[in-house]
Amino acid sequence: MSPQLTRAAAVTGSLADPATYLDGPPFAEFARRRREAPVSWVAEVPLRRHSARGTVVQRVGGYWAVTGHVAVVAASRRPEVFSSAERGAFLADPTSRADLERSRQLLVGMDPPAHTRLRRVVTAAFTAPVVRGMRAAIAEHARQIVRRATAGQPVDAVAEVAAELPLLVLADLLGIPREDRGLFLRWSNNLVGFDDPAFGGGDVEVFKQTFVEAFGYALTAAKARRRDPGDDLVSRLVTAEVDGRRLTESEYCHLWLLLVVAGNETTRHLISGGLDLLADRPDLADRLARQPDLVPTAVDEMLRWTTPIMQFRRTAVVDTELAGQRIRAGDKVVLYYISANRDESVFDRPETFLLDRSPNPHIAFGVGPHFCLGSHLARVEAAVLFEELAPHLRRLRRTGPAVRLESNFMNGLKQLPVTFAAG
Ligand code: HEM
Repeated sequence: MSPQLTRAAAVTGSLADPATYLDGPPFAEFARRRREAPVSWVAEVPLRRHSARGTVVQRVGGYWAVTGHVAVVAASRRPEVFSSAERGAFLADPTSRADLERSRQLLVGMDPPAHTRLRRVVTAAFTAPVVRGMRAAIAEHARQIVRRATAGQPVDAVAEVAAELPLLVLADLLGIPREDRGLFLRWSNNLVGFDDPAFGGGDVEVFKQTFVEAFGYALTAAKARRRDPGDDLVSRLVTAEVDGRRLTESEYCHLWLLLVVAGNETTRHLISGGLDLLADRPDLADRLARQPDLVPTAVDEMLRWTTPIMQFRRTAVVDTELAGQRIRAGDKVVLYYISANRDESVFDRPETFLLDRSPNPHIAFGVGPHFCLGSHLARVEAAVLFEELAPHLRRLRRTGPAVRLESNFMNGLKQLPVTFAAG
């Protein structure tokens, strides 16, 4: 998207428009909607996307924005009414039948019971005890990253801190060479950062090509693991059975790619979001440095504050009601976790970041049958990183402006120039 198009699109101010989020999530608009009606209509917007072949217009049909905490939780817990499979889990409507079928291959785009069966294949790899067993290796990565980042030179904390840890952990988890982690970064930027001019810029070809490349890689890894299985996740996926049969090639590839994307982009934005806040708030950085035992509650507050995945979409499959609003079968319903996490009827002083907030019933990991599989892993990654960083936090300073990702889906930064140098 050219700067000119970005400005033109921003005029809409619609929750559906990626450009609306360029200066940060529209919290005032979310607050207004929560106050007036926790389920409210967002009108259709035509989004102009830049592609190598010129400008294209994609229609994002009108939808119900669910902005209240209670309503988001209620809808998430009723997959038989609010389906992830009917029209996919993403805000933009599927562009074709094939597109819809593709999104139904992803766990996030499935409904029970198919969803429950496939999810079972990977849950064991992400339980709290399994993740606790990974803690020492994660801490070692974090130590190296923090040592490099605090050596005195200015750093881009997105590339050199926030992106690095989840990529290294994923490489270990999947049993693939660490040197290949740059590929994971590029693929997830292209798929999730799709709207941003720096990545796909809305170019469908980039999107499709990324799938081809990533699936090719996944299949090569599968072949190697079938010959020589280890205790990594790929070995588990290629030997796993659902209903007495092995995963199909397509099931395997989609699961693999979901893990690669979900496991890196989100945690990256959580860490950079936390650092971005601490760079503005020396008082908090100082307290965390003095009281590193606050890291676990601080991480949950960073999850609430940043809410890296701002929303997921559902589709009503029967006429129903949500928070007093009538919804018809076929209506698109978008669950705004980012708004729910600032809901004043659930959180005391939601606009205040509290390092020791407890309880903290945020729903940054979603809720219900699709509750994030990687929640334990993400929490441990962020916690060990901030524990390692704690002694250096008093020296955290910006060296330039942060650059935001242009997205209506991810609340993320592309760059965060900082230094941890003394003085
Ligand atoms: C800060 C980090 C993370 C955040 C904020 C986050 C957020 C979410 C959310 C909101 C969902 C719900 C999707 C829905 O309702 O349709 C989800 C699902 C999922 N997440 Fe995460 N996630 C994070 C980290 C991770 C990690 C580290 C992994 C794996 C390595 C992961 C893997 C998944 C998978 C596989 C699903 C799909 C579950 C299903 O549909 O049953 N996530 N995540």
